[in-house]
Amino acid sequence: MDYKRILVTAALPYANGPVHIGHLAGCYLPADIYVRYQRAQKRDVQFICGSDEHGVPITIRAMKEGKTPQQVVDHYNAVIRDSFAAMGISFDIYSRTSSPVHHATAQAFFKKLYDDGVFETRETEQYFDEEKKVFLADRYIIGTCPVCSNPNAYGDQCEKCGSTLSPEQLINPRSALSNAALVKKPTTHWYFPLNKYEDFLKEWIVEGKKDEWKANVYGQCKSWIDSGLQPRAMTRDSNWGVPVPIEGADGKVLYVWFDAPIGYISATKELTPDWANYWQQDDTKLVHFIGKDNIVFHCIIFPAMLKAHGGFVLPDNVPANEFLNIEGEKVSTSRNWAVWVHEYIQDFPDQQDILRYVLCANAPESKDNDFTWKDFQTRNNSELVDKFGNYVNRVMVLTHKLCGGKVPKWHEAAADDRDKALVADIRLARGKIENALEAYKFRDGLFELIELSRKGNIYLQEKAPWKEASGIEKGTFSDEEKIAAQQRIDNCLHLALQLTANLAILSNPFLPFTAKKICHLLKVVERMLDWENAGKVNLVNTGYPMRAPELLFRKIEDAEIEAQITKLKAGLMASTQTQEQAQSAAASEEASAETLKPEISIDDFNKVDLRTGTILSAQKVEKADKLLQLEIDLGFEKRTVLSGIALHFKPEDIVGRQVVVVANLAPRKMRGIESKGMILMAENAEGKLEFVAPLEAVNNGAAVK
Ligand code: MF3
Ligand code: ZN
Repeated sequence: MDYKRILVTAALPYANGPVHIGHLAGCYLPADIYVRYQRAQKRDVQFICGSDEHGVPITIRAMKEGKTPQQVVDHYNAVIRDSFAAMGISFDIYSRTSSPVHHATAQAFFKKLYDDGVFETRETEQYFDEEKKVFLADRYIIGTCPVCSNPNAYGDQCEKCGSTLSPEQLINPRSALSNAALVKKPTTHWYFPLNKYEDFLKEWIVEGKKDEWKANVYGQCKSWIDSGLQPRAMTRDSNWGVPVPIEGADGKVLYVWFDAPIGYISATKELTPDWANYWQQDDTKLVHFIGKDNIVFHCIIFPAMLKAHGGFVLPDNVPANEFLNIEGEKVSTSRNWAVWVHEYIQDFPDQQDILRYVLCANAPESKDNDFTWKDFQTRNNSELVDKFGNYVNRVMVLTHKLCGGKVPKWHEAAADDRDKALVADIRLARGKIENALEAYKFRDGLFELIELSRKGNIYLQEKAPWKEASGIEKGTFSDEEKIAAQQRIDNCLHLALQLTANLAILSNPFLPFTAKKICHLLKVVERMLDWENAGKVNLVNTGYPMRAPELLFRKIEDAEIEAQITKLKAGLMASTQTQEQAQSAAASEEASAETLKPEISIDDFNKVDLRTGTILSAQKVEKADKLLQLEIDLGFEKRTVLSGIALHFKPEDIVGRQVVVVANLAPRKMRGIESKGMILMAENAEGKLEFVAPLEAVNNGAAVK
């Protein structure tokens, strides 16, 4: 199908915290590369984003910070917007779901479905927090994931294993607001009958998108559809959100995953009076850029909503990325294990393209990937500086040295095979990068770009115009030889400058700040960056003066990297340490990793009775900073165990977690409390503790042998 226009959306970030580099790599950077490329192709493209300002994470954050939800979203909307702008993420609009246009659009959408009789109402028993006197849903409810035993799974999703959940599936559900156990009470909600869209989804995705969508995206969709679709409540009991626009729905708002994707439509409305062309004409190519935790919402629920409403285009593609880990560990905003974009910009002013480069080169396109500061340094120093930057700089320096700073003449008759090979390489690179970008293979595209600059360096090395120049200087050449040598110099640098111009065009989607700098060096207008110019070798004209050389990139020093790693670890410490600093009784129970204890027999080992158990509750022990008092379900009985882990884990974070307990350890009294057993922990190099537990949940009380 030939498309007339392209509508690109990037997931609306929750305005409940700043964005980190995982967000950039997963969604915003690939979207921006794609859009910049399409713009350079002069295609009709709009790039839509904005803050997702409703939903539970925001109200929880507000509660924790003692603010109103409005104050929270006002603050983070500004922080996020500034971070994106600084990184050159070139949205055509960055809106907010609190905007009046959005409220009206989301309500009209809901009303249409309601009037068409799409929804089913159901009265259900729902979890109620007696302490806070509110109904809870989704992220207000925390409990243990039935799939992976993550003790902090949410009522709608486990962020650890990605499973989509309902609150009923959580083990030991508790309130995110008060931590209280929950009671059930009746309430009425409007349900969207996803099950009725099963046939549509099967045909559209399972059959229609098999070869088109990325395997990770297609796979998630298929398994969701295969496991059977259920009606899903599209309203919530809450006072923060878009009010349900029908009589008798006081105290109810639209489910955030109902209203947020409609935010793409509202934002387009705010952007252009032509919004309906983008959303309602079949020849629009709609592309949603998201992270993998958003796949079902964008591929299944939102398309089913659009289908039910009628008249809207469906996404052509949803090129979701996997997650980016940091230094080998999953990003955790609660543990402050993240690299924040606004902090990067402060620490590395004017170095946006390095981060764009590293995040794209390392993008988690088909599997989770790792960001390390060392890799950041290496990629910058050995790829951006040594290949790309070095090439451009050499060309500029040589042009000034050997050609008076002006574009030398091209002597067709003197052109040799080596020159022709480079011209071919330039043409080929355009095609390769184009294909990669159209196929959402941004890493491959970027690789081809660096590859082209590497070829440029080899060309210079082989042509060695400085040798030709010193040959001329020696004065041993005949006039004829002099002319021929000068022509070879001219041709080399003429072509090298054309390649430089091409590097600007081809790098522009990925490294827009760099592309601009090259235009500045070459003294060409930015219109040269139009994609139609890529592959051409007549971009800078003979006799045209260049600016003096300036380096495009700078080396990243070891000290800068060390500072970042220290900062990352310090953030982690600050988030896990408790205020109290005194010693506790458990402090002495430490083992050294280096020296093994004396050998024991199997019989000795068999004396230890290890059992699996689940932490039912956890609380701090008064006047003992390191101790947590745990209630552990061993299946056959419940036990109190004191454990010296209070500096490493917050009590609320470990409830529901499965552990291994030394079940026949002699009881021991600490701080007036009897501890019956000990839980197994492992310590990593930084001294951080991790639970030792079965990888898959097993029955409590199972023997560990
Ligand atoms: N706020 C969601 C998240 O950060 C994404 C919402 S995308 C939209 O996971 F489509 F709903 F807008
Ligand atoms: Zn899970």
